[in-house]
Amino acid sequence: MEVPNFKIKSVEGIKLIPREERIKSIEKAGLNVFLLKSDEIFIDLLTDSGTNAMSQEQWSAIMKADESYAGARSFDNFKNSISKVTGFEFILPVHQGRAAEHILDQVLIEEGQSVLGNIHFDTTEAHIQHRKGIPVNCVIEEAFDCEKELDFKGNICLKKLEKLLEKNKENTAYVLHTVTCNSGGGQPVSMQNIREASELCKKFGVLFFLDAARFAENAFFIKQREKGFQNKSIAEIVLEMFSFADGCTMSAKKDAIVNMGGFIAFRKKELYEKCVPFGILFEGFPTYGGMSGRDLEAVAVGIKEGIQEDYLSYRIGQVKYLGEKLSEAGIPVMKPIGGHAVFVDGKKFLEHLPQEQFPAHTLAAELYIESGIRAVEIGTLLAGRDPETKENKMPALDLMRLTIPRRVYLQEHMDYIVEAMKKLKERKEKIKGLKFTFESPVLRHFWSKFERVK
Ligand code: F0G
Repeated sequence: MEVPNFKIKSVEGIKLIPREERIKSIEKAGLNVFLLKSDEIFIDLLTDSGTNAMSQEQWSAIMKADESYAGARSFDNFKNSISKVTGFEFILPVHQGRAAEHILDQVLIEEGQSVLGNIHFDTTEAHIQHRKGIPVNCVIEEAFDCEKELDFKGNICLKKLEKLLEKNKENTAYVLHTVTCNSGGGQPVSMQNIREASELCKKFGVLFFLDAARFAENAFFIKQREKGFQNKSIAEIVLEMFSFADGCTMSAKKDAIVNMGGFIAFRKKELYEKCVPFGILFEGFPTYGGMSGRDLEAVAVGIKEGIQEDYLSYRIGQVKYLGEKLSEAGIPVMKPIGGHAVFVDGKKFLEHLPQEQFPAHTLAAELYIESGIRAVEIGTLLAGRDPETKENKMPALDLMRLTIPRRVYLQEHMDYIVEAMKKLKERKEKIKGLKFTFESPVLRHFWSKFERVK
């Protein structure tokens, strides 16, 4: 058992509303957990993004923040801290990860160009498409096998990457390696894979970026699982990971343990300078970029806390605890257990439902009714439609993600989640699938509504 490296000084009450009210709430939300109100939720596992508990050091830094429009002292703290952790010199602040994607894609993508990666996150993919680019996922085949135990299931298939670069390097905007691979179950990427992908990019003269949202969790897995890293500190591993990249996009709402923030980091000044005007246009002056001085200070402290080994050991240990208990209870979960979440195999859990009826999304709605827990679908609903054929994409993975916010819930909460899933398992054959009553045109999982299939 991993013991948390903190004790609790301030708490927020939560309440389980009665089952009849939960049924009414989810019906009113069009059977879409995104449309529930937080007061209707008991344990919120929608995301680990921006839902983290900050430390007393972060809160006290916030009190000292400088809210100057330009040249704020808080920006220097933000920049220096990020540069120290990542090794990148040029840092452009943005309000969250997708804003980083917005700016970078504006500068790097020409119409018809591809962006290659392991598996692009949904906002990443949508931003590439918004620039009329083509997102291409090149993750290793094993990533799509929920049962397969492999240390680094987030790795890019280097053969595939090489083939695509050979064939099409002029039409490749850049390569983006996502660490850890969220859409593939929070699975890590090995140092060797980062290095080799980067070497291929160099060979073909293509830029290599990391989507670093969960870089610290990835580094922890490298330390645990990759030969030669056991005696290195997380800080050293992190620096080595970034040393292979030309830059990174970052949603600080994850591994920098804050509620809002992000950045793009660059090794070279030229690309930073190209992005600055769009930063000003979309996000604000380059010393605040959509963040308040308070947000900048919280990241400056949080990004250092995020790479503490005792914290990461508790964090990854908590997720593992949940995953192993669920697995012992016969719940089909993605193996091995990922960094920020446990992913339940929707197609397997609700095997009587066809994929068009969104098994993992259906499961999330039913879990809410059963327990007041809010999980989220990472699967068929999120995948959306093929832009050419307009048909629903049918991704190999249809998962329900139980995402664990950082430093928020206790082991007892994990046990409650396991009990809830067990109860759901007992009545799973009776669960009916879902169909749209309204389908939102962009990133449809956030805003669409559903009814049960008769
Ligand atoms: N990249 C990855 C790997 C992400 O997981 C996310 C967000 C983003 C980029 C976009 O960052 O939300 O700050 O704009 N993931 C959240 C999630 C939303 O729930 O997994 P953002």
